[in-house]
Amino acid sequence: MSVVGARPNFMKVAPIHRAFEKYAPEYEHHIVHTGQHYDAAMSDAFFQDLEMPNPSKFLGIGSGSHAEQTAKVMIAFEQTCLELKPDLVIVVGDVNSTIACALVAVKLGIKTVHVEAGLRSYDRSMPEEINRIATDSICDYWFTTEESGNRILKESGYPEDHIFFVGNTMIDSLHFAMPRAEQSQVREELGLKDKKYGLVTMHRPSNVDDPEQLKSLLEILAEISNDRAIVFPMHPRTSSKIHEYGFSDIIESGKQLIITEPKGYIDFLALMKDADFVLTDSGGIQEETTVLGIPCITARTTTERPVTIELGTNILIEPNPESIAKALHDIVHMPRKSGSIPPLWDGKAAERIAEILVTQCIKTQ
Ligand code: UD1
Repeated sequence: MSVVGARPNFMKVAPIHRAFEKYAPEYEHHIVHTGQHYDAAMSDAFFQDLEMPNPSKFLGIGSGSHAEQTAKVMIAFEQTCLELKPDLVIVVGDVNSTIACALVAVKLGIKTVHVEAGLRSYDRSMPEEINRIATDSICDYWFTTEESGNRILKESGYPEDHIFFVGNTMIDSLHFAMPRAEQSQVREELGLKDKKYGLVTMHRPSNVDDPEQLKSLLEILAEISNDRAIVFPMHPRTSSKIHEYGFSDIIESGKQLIITEPKGYIDFLALMKDADFVLTDSGGIQEETTVLGIPCITARTTTERPVTIELGTNILIEPNPESIAKALHDIVHMPRKSGSIPPLWDGKAAERIAEILVTQCIKTQ
């Protein structure tokens, strides 16, 4: 049984579901959706674009404080486990649903697997970092996306024969959806057919909850958009903060600053693959741009995905207006960082996961 809760989970679980159907049809694979994300644009669109079946259970948890959201997921997920009696629970990534469901499953004595294990930003002010540390520390098996994850888990004393370096299921989804992204009309719809543009996403509390920080980010984007079109599909957290702080006029002052609703997976992929550059504070986008070979500026002081810097096209910058302005100037005017695709990011990670689960995890219980 795999858990999805928030937007970045869907593309990690979809290939695992397909791999079970194809390579282990003797097993039923259930998807449980906690409902941490619930808007059509943040959830339903991804089920459609990734061709995922409806979840076996939708827990309908919704938003709330961290404690409230995590606790509600735990209560509902315990009932689901008692009802569906899974042999194994798979949690992915680092969102609140990840730790909530891992904690429930492990305490019920169900073998629990963490996909995308071992990543660390070493920034404990990020809620995701606490979720990563806590989830890894209680799971039974760890599937890693990059060498840093293997090293960190081994150095922390996790049993080596339960750590599996399988690659990145998010990149499996990228391969799966790329033919349809090639057909997307989203550039035409946004008036960007033959235009160079930068693609922006920002939603981390550290960038959007503080009014001064958000204001300066928006001001720099508005200014840059005088020279270069900027597309900014906006996370609901960011839109609601802009509304609350009364910053809509800053956006309107940008000549070519195009704000849209959050995009579905296919259209976002289409925008990303043709972008001149990407500016983001997301985790997964650092990985996707690395595979697509698109320069990525990550407006954060740390990353839990160091391979995107060591091998990929990603750079980290301090999230202040001066650093962002300089990074954007450099990316437009200077030679670009070239990159290569990290080991095992080949579109086959989920196949490896399904095979290992069936031959080494479920059968040995
Ligand atoms: C969550 C994850 C974060 C991930 C992000 C991707 C945690 C701790 N954080 O952050 O790691 O990068 O998802 O999007 O799990 N909202 C809506 N509609 C929705 C979902 C959220 O309007 O469908 C609004 C609500 O106002 C909510 C706010 O967004 O309060 C934040 O949602 P929440 O799930 O708490 O965290 P995210 O910022 O989305």
